[in-house]
Amino acid sequence: MPNRPSASAAQARLVPGATDAAPGQDGWQTDAMDERTFDRSGQHASVIGLGTWQLGADWGDVDDKQALAVLEAAAESGVTFFDTADVYGDGRSEQTIASFLSGRPDLHVLVATKMGRRVDQIPENYVLDNFRAWNDRSRRNLGVDRVDLVQLHCPPTPVYSTDEVFDALDTLVAEERIAAYGVSVETCAEALTAIARPNVASVQIILNPFRMKPLREVLPAARAAGVGVIARVPLASGLLSGRYTKDTVFPENDHRTFNRHGESFDQGETFSGVDYTTGVEAAAEFAALAPEGYTPAQLALRWIVRQPGVTTVIPGARSPEQARANAHAARLPELSEQTLAAIDDLYERRIKEQVEGRW
Ligand SMILES: NC(=O)c1ccc[n+]([C@@H]2O[C@H](COP(=O)([O-])OP(=O)(O)OC[C@H]3O[C@@H](n4cnc5c(N)ncnc54)[C@H](OP(=O)(O)O)[C@@H]3O)[C@@H](O)[C@H]2O)c1
Repeated sequence: MPNRPSASAAQARLVPGATDAAPGQDGWQTDAMDERTFDRSGQHASVIGLGTWQLGADWGDVDDKQALAVLEAAAESGVTFFDTADVYGDGRSEQTIASFLSGRPDLHVLVATKMGRRVDQIPENYVLDNFRAWNDRSRRNLGVDRVDLVQLHCPPTPVYSTDEVFDALDTLVAEERIAAYGVSVETCAEALTAIARPNVASVQIILNPFRMKPLREVLPAARAAGVGVIARVPLASGLLSGRYTKDTVFPENDHRTFNRHGESFDQGETFSGVDYTTGVEAAAEFAALAPEGYTPAQLALRWIVRQPGVTTVIPGARSPEQARANAHAARLPELSEQTLAAIDDLYERRIKEQVEGRW
């Protein structure tokens, strides 16, 4: 995967008071991050991006001021890739991004949205007329004529094998409604089917120290085909921060309360599909592996960034502090062989059996 040099000066935000970059000539500081390329579309993304499901709904309450502060903190820390969806807060996440970027014409952020989960999950809904209507709504929410990257949002499995679906997506590109398209998938098998389509620019998949199967089954194929990989749920919904205990109570309107067993959507989206008790115990072991200078969350992110074939990793953040700490992981030193081996061993012992058969 080509690793762009640091983002250009034009892409670096001037940040008053940032602490982890050298002062600029005028006393302000820049905080650029390495970018990687989506080979098929030629688009670029910071190696650590930002997931913005939290700015919509399903993670307890995040008010508008806090949501804008998260976007600001990420952008000022060098993040140039935001992942959103038309369904996050039923458009609130897209609208918040639009509101933030409209006040920041100097920023160059690649915005990837998703479509398809505001209707019944049947293959018959994945047709050109619906795509146009969904895209019209996202363009309005995002305040753009053309969406940078649109992803099918974990559609029913047969959708990946339907030629007409990809013809319709090509039509959206030809109509200049979108610059490029990709898919967000649940399983490795779905990822491989999508990668075989010639114009799929990106595959978004769960990848983290508790979800390793894509390392073997998806990343090599994506690299060979020039398809970008967007690694989602990188902190296993926060588990890998090592902050939760068996007694942690999440808000009622948080999927970590209401989707623990897949009651509302795929179980794999909550704690990576790992049973909570096992997850908390394994996360405590994981946290103990964090080298000096790393938080456990940063260890997880650094581990993902170093996997060949990953284009960008998109941690969700509920506070500016989290967004900043996550971006900083891109600048931490390489992990030792010993730490890497211990992470592999933890996965083999505690996690693999729970997740590999299903996703
Ligand atoms: N089907 C799909 O396409 C799909 C599904 C899921 C997610 N996504 C995308 O992927 C993004 C990331 O996944 P995710 O948000 O589900 O899970 P995640 O990134 O694994 O976990 C996010 C949670 O981790 C905790 N966290 C974040 N930064 C932290 C830090 N620096 N220190 C300690 N804890 C930290 C926060 O938990 P607290 O809330 O406890 O503070 C936060 O809510 C989403 O925002 C969304 O854009 C897409």
